[in-house]
Amino acid sequence: MGIDDDHTAHTPSLSLAEARAEWDVDRTFLDSCSYGPPPRRGWDAMQTSLEQWRRGTRPWQSWTDSVQDSRELFATMIGAEADWVATGAAVSQLLAPIAAALPDGAEVLVPDIEFTSGVYPFAVHAHRGVSVRTAPLDSLAEAIDESTALVSFSAAQSATGEVADTQTITARAREVGALTVLDGTQAAGWLPLDAAEVDFLVVAAYKWLCAPRGAAFLTMRPPNSGDSGATSTRSREEFAARLKPLAAGWFAGGTGASYSMPMHLADDARAFDISPAWHSWVGTAPSLELLLEIGVERIHAHDVALANAFRARLGLETSNSAIVSIEVADAAPSRLDEAGIRFSMADGRARFGFHLYNDADDVTAAVEALRGLT
Ligand SMILES: Cc1ncc(COP(=O)(O)O)c(C=O)c1O
Repeated sequence: MGIDDDHTAHTPSLSLAEARAEWDVDRTFLDSCSYGPPPRRGWDAMQTSLEQWRRGTRPWQSWTDSVQDSRELFATMIGAEADWVATGAAVSQLLAPIAAALPDGAEVLVPDIEFTSGVYPFAVHAHRGVSVRTAPLDSLAEAIDESTALVSFSAAQSATGEVADTQTITARAREVGALTVLDGTQAAGWLPLDAAEVDFLVVAAYKWLCAPRGAAFLTMRPPNSGDSGATSTRSREEFAARLKPLAAGWFAGGTGASYSMPMHLADDARAFDISPAWHSWVGTAPSLELLLEIGVERIHAHDVALANAFRARLGLETSNSAIVSIEVADAAPSRLDEAGIRFSMADGRARFGFHLYNDADDVTAAVEALRGLT
């Protein structure tokens, strides 16, 4: 796969109908909140690399090229420079160095229903006085005060699908000099995200980015970039000086394998890369490429329209999310299973995710299976 330097190859060029022909998703899959099935080009690339591995026909380096391709494609999607982007395997792993860089006694603020991968990396530092305070997502900005060192929140909530008011939260965080960590795992791929809005944007790619498990990204905005106020810039610089790539190994050097000392780390976010899960990355790059060919704005319109069609037929209000979370009767899960509807239970509610491979027939199937059960 070739990545154009000017990224013109990623100007949206595919209609949704054309793009959907790249998926082989059976009806009725409404569980993108749990995982996103791959497009054929991602699946095929991965099968090819697995076959190469099985037969021993290719050097491993050809598989690691996909890490840099993925990094560049992801950067394009979220408006970052590629050298802001570190690659890893999971959200919690990528957040661990950020938590470790917090000073003793720091206070972290999170929404009260935040997914634990954005909470536990901070909570495990309780022994040195790091505390985690919670507040409702819709009043998170108001809950930020002078004692807040860092705010960790999801762009779209895992449990409810609620979309955070990122602008208001980050504006308030800047006022008090608090760092911001945005988890885009339930958003990237359908909700336009801007990495420049926050200090750190973390995304696991196996859901709405339709990549295999094992590929995740963390953008680290350089402390001197953006339009932050003076206080915030100063605290970010202090924080950056404490931030260390705690899992650095040979891949964090940004060049080939090396031995012993002296240490040569990449001078950008790549220093935070962990050794890549090769085949996962081979499957990730084609998927990102395809999503960019469709365009996140177009996917956003499609996904939210389907979610709202589902809401309307269940008598719920319109929303701005691709995720619908509803209370259902006890009999609903087995009824949905029997009807072949793939969905998930989250925080005691039934959760449905509508993505680009879904259509109006999926909405109808789910509504019919839920008849009398909501
Ligand atoms: C908001 C959010 N963040 C992160 C994750 C996954 O985290 P990790 O990669 O640490 O398993 C999930 C999975 O459901 C999620 O919903």
